[in-house]
Amino acid sequence: MNIILLGPPGAGKGTQAKRLETERGMVQLSTGDMLRAAVKAGTPTGLKAKAVMEAGQLVSDAIVSGIIGERLDMADTETGAIFDGYPRTYAQAESLDALLSERGRKLDYVIELLVNEEALVDRVEGRFTCAKCGEGYHDKYKLPKVDGVCDVCGATEFKRRPDDNAETVRTRMAEYRAKTAPILPFYEAKGLVRRVDGMADIDEVTRQIAAVLDGQG
Ligand code: AP5
Repeated sequence: MNIILLGPPGAGKGTQAKRLETERGMVQLSTGDMLRAAVKAGTPTGLKAKAVMEAGQLVSDAIVSGIIGERLDMADTETGAIFDGYPRTYAQAESLDALLSERGRKLDYVIELLVNEEALVDRVEGRFTCAKCGEGYHDKYKLPKVDGVCDVCGATEFKRRPDDNAETVRTRMAEYRAKTAPILPFYEAKGLVRRVDGMADIDEVTRQIAAVLDGQG
């Protein structure tokens, strides 16, 4: 099964994609994570993407569709992929169709996480992760049980994304409204869109997504 998780910054795409990986053996393809890895490694793609990402704007369609195409050639994606943060423009949506059909695959669902944007600024601004294992935390909603120590791996280093400040989050949301939300009709016309309540608690969102994937949503 191949699905897209669609929603603005902080909607919970990454949170739910990780759960689907664990629970269903699907593979998360997050263009944001791939670009951040390229920035960290200092690759030519990373060098091009860094400033654009820090400004909260979109990296070029050619770069992101290129990295998704390379990733789809890896065998682990053959049994099912979760597209997290891709596609983000009409051109990327068309590229994804082509990339999948060239490999004899197809999209099963586009799951839109319905959210209240104002609440998301708070979600994104407070987010931080363990620098060693990547476990996610939040200043208000999920602090480590022991102050300064990761619950999962015991590490004491944490990190925050450079684009997780209120000003950049608002630019990212504006990009979503202007360029990403308009791809919904493309998928509506194919009958692929399903909606879940992204403001419900994390377990309830997982349950609603499971109902869709199990054909009950
Ligand atoms: P990307 O990394 O994709 O960021 P994003 O879309 O802005 O999404 P986030 O990762 O911020 O949010 P999320 O929906 O995954 O939420 P999460 O689960 O973490 O992209 C970053 C940048 O890369 C872009 O701005 C762009 O520059 C570039 N880029 C990436 N892809 C691109 C593309 N295709 N084309 C062009 N450029 C691209 O949750 C957030 C927080 O909320 C967490 O703390 C979590 O614990 C909490 N939370 C989650 N769900 C709930 C809930 N139901 N209730 C309460 N709290 C919750």
